[in-house]
Amino acid sequence: MSENRYDIAVLGGGPGGYPAAIKLSQMGKRVALVEAKAVGGTCLNRGCIPTKALIANAEVLHSIKHAKEFGISVSGVTVDFAKMAHEKDGIVNRLKNSLEGLIRSNNIDMIRGFGKFVSPFELKVIGEDNVLITADQIIIATGTEPKEIPAFPFDGKLIHSSTSILALELLPKRMAIVGGGVIGCEFASLYAELGVEVTIIEALPRILPLECETISSFMTKSFVNRGIQVITGAMVEAIEKNNGVTICFKDGKKVTSDVALVAIGRSFNTSNIGLEAAGVLADRGVIPTDDVMRTNVPGIYAIGDITGKAMYAHVATHQGLVAAAHIIGEKLHMNYDAIPGVIFTHPEIGTVGMSLETACKRGFQAKRTTYPFQALGKAQAAKQTEGFAQIVVDETTGQILGAQVIGHEASNLIHPMAVAIANELTIECITETIHAHPTLQEAWLESALIAEGHPLHFPPLKSRQ
Ligand code: NAI
Repeated sequence: MSENRYDIAVLGGGPGGYPAAIKLSQMGKRVALVEAKAVGGTCLNRGCIPTKALIANAEVLHSIKHAKEFGISVSGVTVDFAKMAHEKDGIVNRLKNSLEGLIRSNNIDMIRGFGKFVSPFELKVIGEDNVLITADQIIIATGTEPKEIPAFPFDGKLIHSSTSILALELLPKRMAIVGGGVIGCEFASLYAELGVEVTIIEALPRILPLECETISSFMTKSFVNRGIQVITGAMVEAIEKNNGVTICFKDGKKVTSDVALVAIGRSFNTSNIGLEAAGVLADRGVIPTDDVMRTNVPGIYAIGDITGKAMYAHVATHQGLVAAAHIIGEKLHMNYDAIPGVIFTHPEIGTVGMSLETACKRGFQAKRTTYPFQALGKAQAAKQTEGFAQIVVDETTGQILGAQVIGHEASNLIHPMAVAIANELTIECITETIHAHPTLQEAWLESALIAEGHPLHFPPLKSRQ
């Protein structure tokens, strides 16, 4: 085993690890990036990108199905799922190759293998490369994996994880999805559009339990209208395998399906990376960090899902840049109050900051104003009238505390609100900004005008009482 000395070693080449490595190398540091599987991590290989590639197909199909509403007749439509899966793999591979090139062009040493701490400043890597790395500073960015329940482990055939389901080349007739969180809902939306009979089974009283109630109930209605069966308050205890699967609930009820997708959260990749040898503390897999991503051990940082914050690629990336900035003596910090979140269902969901419920719990005198897509000229023209945008405002100061949008292009629509919240803007800043017409962005302007008590394209409050 050879020995190598670096200024910084980054353990994990996902959307947290590789941006940190790039920034540090650009600042003149000698950097090693250790990756056991493929660069890009879950996001590029098993998460964001392959799912969005499949969802793009579903969106095209959706438009074709609704073409008649525009006076366009389409016949002979067929779905070649194997081709869709193949295209998805091509997209992932192209991005992976260009990411490999980007890493090389930044003079980062890519070390391929599984890295484990043997001391606070040493990583032993076993795999394609077998090497002992010594580094002044180490950034841990090892991510998460789909959580497995011992009573019904993944088999990749009848009981799928969000990883193995991506390898399907044939669409099942029926799919039961255990867990109505972000992953469960994104896959439900995708497969239902492609013609699969989908049932979501969620233990809590509503799907998307971490989102505000208005978004969750709107999504439920939208799913039900599209033929998705939504079962809530149902804790799955077992999955029997037969010709297909029988999902068994705690209350004795059962649902049968062809395959099951289990999406009940993620587990942290921190149990077998030698944290004890480094003295890094973890609490049930989560590594606590301060606002510049330092762990309890000087010189060791943690970023991404393993920090137990919002599990988003973009959060991991920013955390990586914060850690890198701290190492090179620059100032950058995490603002967890202004993190945009997007759920790629149909319709899409975008959120940032506080829900009304959270704002009230945190002691704000807050209100929420909502503008329906139906009232937007652009939404009518494009026949995308399903959805609404809402702003949560501090009544005493007018500061924007949060925003939620469900509807067409919500993934893009949410960003001006992230800028508003990150910069502590008030609703006045929105109403004084000229919004282009006709656009869906006008939903924010109209919500802000309602919050000011002077709605323009919405009946005044008194006429609605
Ligand atoms: P999740 O925590 O969002 O949802 C899991 C759901 O499963 C919960 O609602 C829970 O009540 C339910 N559940 C747990 N055990 C159950 C049982 N035995 N029977 C029935 N229901 C049960 O976890 P999920 O969906 O796996 O996502 C993991 C993480 O990945 C999330 O933090 C999410 O934000 C992130 N992610 C983000 C995406 C995005 O930004 N678009 C896409 C995919 C994942």
